[in-house]
Amino acid sequence: MKITFYGHASLGIEVGGKYIIVDPYISANPNASHIDIDTLKADFILITHAHGDHILDVEAIAKRTNAVIVSNAEIAGHYCQKGFQTHPMNHGGSWNFDFGRLKYVNAIHSSSFPDGSYGGNPGGFVIEGEHKNVYIAGDTALTMDMKLIPMRTKLDLAILPIGDNFTMDVEDAIVASDFLDCDKILGYHYDTFGYIEIDHEDAIRKFFNKGKDLMLLEIGSSIEL
Ligand code: NI
Ligand code: MN
Repeated sequence: MKITFYGHASLGIEVGGKYIIVDPYISANPNASHIDIDTLKADFILITHAHGDHILDVEAIAKRTNAVIVSNAEIAGHYCQKGFQTHPMNHGGSWNFDFGRLKYVNAIHSSSFPDGSYGGNPGGFVIEGEHKNVYIAGDTALTMDMKLIPMRTKLDLAILPIGDNFTMDVEDAIVASDFLDCDKILGYHYDTFGYIEIDHEDAIRKFFNKGKDLMLLEIGSSIEL
């Protein structure tokens, strides 16, 4: 499994020979100006919730690639009505896609579309790939529900928001990693806006002091699991 960070909460995941894009917010992110969304491969687009900083480039990428948009029932319904290929899910449900098994799990946040229309309830995803398992938290507070995830899935990586203000901060993300029984963390949802700027070295050190590995990727760079 290969995971590429496209800035903010945007990810590319190659798994099982398929290409997944998560929460694409790239074309308006000045930090990601070197990423051209017209070059991204996508068989699936996963959306955690309907906020503008998670859906901005969904339509452009889906139109070009014909990717299947996977999200909660309300967000999937929104894009289905616009003629896109979609797969609706809801909290606690899993589905065997051709890249692996995908579960939509709880997040504590909100999920309206930028125009204020209803975007269902926010979530995260657990991907069980052929060899490795990953949790993508989405925008969320620290929640006890995270303890449920390792009861079913042994995680190899947890992708957690660490920017504070709209989501968990670094300290809460450390507790989250305990709940998730996963000491390998990719941080995201930081630095994009003034509200969520963080001190990288301080964040890495705080995780390190708890015996955990926090990775902060350059935008456009990847890790292999
Ligand atoms: Ni949000
Ligand atoms: Mn967000």
